[in-house]
Amino acid sequence: MASYPLFLVLLPIFTGANAAVFTLQNRCKETVWPGILSGSGKPLLMSGGLELKPDQKTDVPAPTGWSGRFWPRTGCNFDQSGKQGNCTTGDCGGGLLECGGTGGAPPVSLAEFTLDSPLDFYDVSLVDGFNVPVSIIPSGGSGNCSAVNCTSNLNLECPEKLQVRGYDKSNGETTVACKSACLAFNEPQYCCAGEFNNPEVCKPSNYSEIFKKACPTSYSYPYDDATSTFTCKGANYLIIFC
Ligand SMILES: *[C@@H]1O[C@H](CO)[C@@H](O)[C@H](O)[C@H]1NC(C)=O
Ligand SMILES: *[C@@H]1O[C@H](CO)[C@@H](O)[C@H](O)[C@H]1NC(C)=O
Ligand SMILES: *[C@@H]1O[C@H](CO)[C@@H](O)[C@H](O)[C@H]1NC(C)=O
Ligand SMILES: *[C@@H]1O[C@H](CO)[C@@H](O)[C@H](O)[C@H]1NC(C)=O
Repeated sequence: MASYPLFLVLLPIFTGANAAVFTLQNRCKETVWPGILSGSGKPLLMSGGLELKPDQKTDVPAPTGWSGRFWPRTGCNFDQSGKQGNCTTGDCGGGLLECGGTGGAPPVSLAEFTLDSPLDFYDVSLVDGFNVPVSIIPSGGSGNCSAVNCTSNLNLECPEKLQVRGYDKSNGETTVACKSACLAFNEPQYCCAGEFNNPEVCKPSNYSEIFKKACPTSYSYPYDDATSTFTCKGANYLIIFC
């Protein structure tokens, strides 16, 4: 080992180590603060959170075999250090920009990934609800690699019982997020729990159908796999908010 030239020893760090690059892009009119949660035992990316101003994008490299989720946070009031504060939607608790391994409070839209298993699996999930439109556009991979486009603002068509009201810089007092029926009512037929814990029994509801209509390739209820889970291999992924 000691006799190997240094560049051969370092090569894997610069090539094989990064399985994929996620590019997070904010196309919303307002700043979003994406949160990132890694799967069990997987490394934390960007310390779990960052700020993205309108039109800004940031590359987030991920190692081989990474799994985890990205979600948008809105209406945050981090202080001048940029670190301390809280968010109207998607808050991860602890008052921190960098979520450091904590998830966001639902309802939030999720972009979920499991890389190299052996394919990359990805989806947009509205199972816990929606706050901001999220799309996933793969590039440079092989296989099916379909884009997941969820660009509708579901907050505008959210049934009253599912609405989360709050303050938005552009609109004032408004619906800032939309709960799923499972989150709002916590009933087994909406959550596919208990005797409904079976795809034959747990079917779309009049509520989940509103989500499915707005975002046909996103998860609208827990057993929505057939039209909502996608695969690709060796790609990079653009994640667009709004
Ligand atoms: C969120 O931040 C605001 C402004 O700093 C503060 O007034 C409020 O108490 C905070 N809320 C929570 C739950 O920490
Ligand atoms: C690719 O995925 C889309 C969306 O799920 C599906 O309609 C299509 O049949 C798939 N194509 C192949 C070749 O698997
Ligand atoms: C999804 O969005 C991408 C990028 O905006 C676009 O190129 C693609 O045509 C869209 N796909 C569908 C099925 O709408
Ligand atoms: C969904 O159906 C339930 C009864 O099954 C009804 O109470 C509710 O108003 C309906 N909601 C919508 C948004 O249609």
